[in-house]
Amino acid sequence: MPLLKIVNCTDSILRKKCLKVENIDETLVKLTDNMIETMYAASGLGLAANQVGVSSNLFVIDVGIEKEKRDPVIIINPVITASEELVMAEEGCLSIPEVFAEINRFQHVEIKGYDLKGDALRYEAEGFLARAFQHEMDHLKGILFWDNLSKVKRSIMQRKFKKKLKELVA
Ligand code: NI
Repeated sequence: MPLLKIVNCTDSILRKKCLKVENIDETLVKLTDNMIETMYAASGLGLAANQVGVSSNLFVIDVGIEKEKRDPVIIINPVITASEELVMAEEGCLSIPEVFAEINRFQHVEIKGYDLKGDALRYEAEGFLARAFQHEMDHLKGILFWDNLSKVKRSIMQRKFKKKLKELVA
């Protein structure tokens, strides 16, 4: 299966709200297969469709994080239906390589969506997995993790990233 190119935060597709998935067809199945492959190849635990250049409202995520066993799932048209207890913890993003920041997220969330068969699914998550769900949900809305920082902190992060980007290109 081909690996997909992960776009970085300079790509405007990451700023657009993803379109609702209306049809689950062969193309979508192939896309999600490749997204899972790409996520693991990049040592990520979650990947939103717009990160591979497709503005569709879905993401893939490894829900086996806590059990240290791979358990990739695809969540189509997700919504967070419950959340509680804000906590700060470090976070990163495959579209902003090598930049990490402490971000406030809910410790517990409930998420609902659909699988590839079009059947409803629901997950209750806490800790790191809950954080990953919120991070991917933000991607689908065109939000990047550093948007949750103060303007000053964000500009420091952006400068760091620009420096990294130059190193990566050089
Ligand atoms: Ni991300």
